[in-house]
Amino acid sequence: MMVLDQESPTAAHWPRAQYESVLTTSNPLSQRVGWVVELGGKPPSEAPELLGFLIAHRVDTEWELENVIVAEGARRRGIGTSLLNEFIEHVRAENGSAIFLEVRESNQVARSLYRKAGFEETGARKSYYSAPRENALLYRRRIS
Ligand SMILES: CC(C)(COP(=O)(O)OP(=O)(O)OC[C@H]1O[C@@H](n2cnc3c(N)ncnc32)[C@H](O)[C@@H]1OP(=O)(O)O)[C@@H](O)C(=O)NCCC(=O)NCCS
Repeated sequence: MMVLDQESPTAAHWPRAQYESVLTTSNPLSQRVGWVVELGGKPPSEAPELLGFLIAHRVDTEWELENVIVAEGARRRGIGTSLLNEFIEHVRAENGSAIFLEVRESNQVARSLYRKAGFEETGARKSYYSAPRENALLYRRRIS
């Protein structure tokens, strides 16, 4: 996950401890959940190749999509869409009410992915991101 993170300038960049927290949360009302897409590998000796992942954070019935990254060589093959659809189905199955996210204004690729998955733009946070400084756009998807 950290390798894909570092290869993707437009991703949300996390320290190792934040990725580890995906595997360790115990509070059922506030938890991180992750999905991965892997290729090949023969357990236990051969590790599969990680093609993409999505991480979300839940607080009660509301979810935040925190990070979604597909390996550069595996993009535009529907993996991002599959990860998002799996996530949305999970939220629905858990009786979640809505998913929220923020994204850099210039990240047209991710914005297009979110729009296609039924997210609507609900606002902006000026100069929310640093390095480089940039506005965040806020998106929401209601779950019915
Ligand atoms: C955003 C990202 C996850 C999309 O993953 P993906 O597997 O390539 O996405 P998909 O193949 O499912 O494409 C879904 C839609 O996204 C849009 N899209 C994807 N790649 C695109 C590109 N290069 N140019 C324009 N639109 C693009 C299209 O609308 C596409 O639908 P279409 O193929 O029917 O036109 C991937 O580009 C990525 O990892 N980017 C770097 C990390 C990042 O910015 N993450 C989001 C912020 S945390």
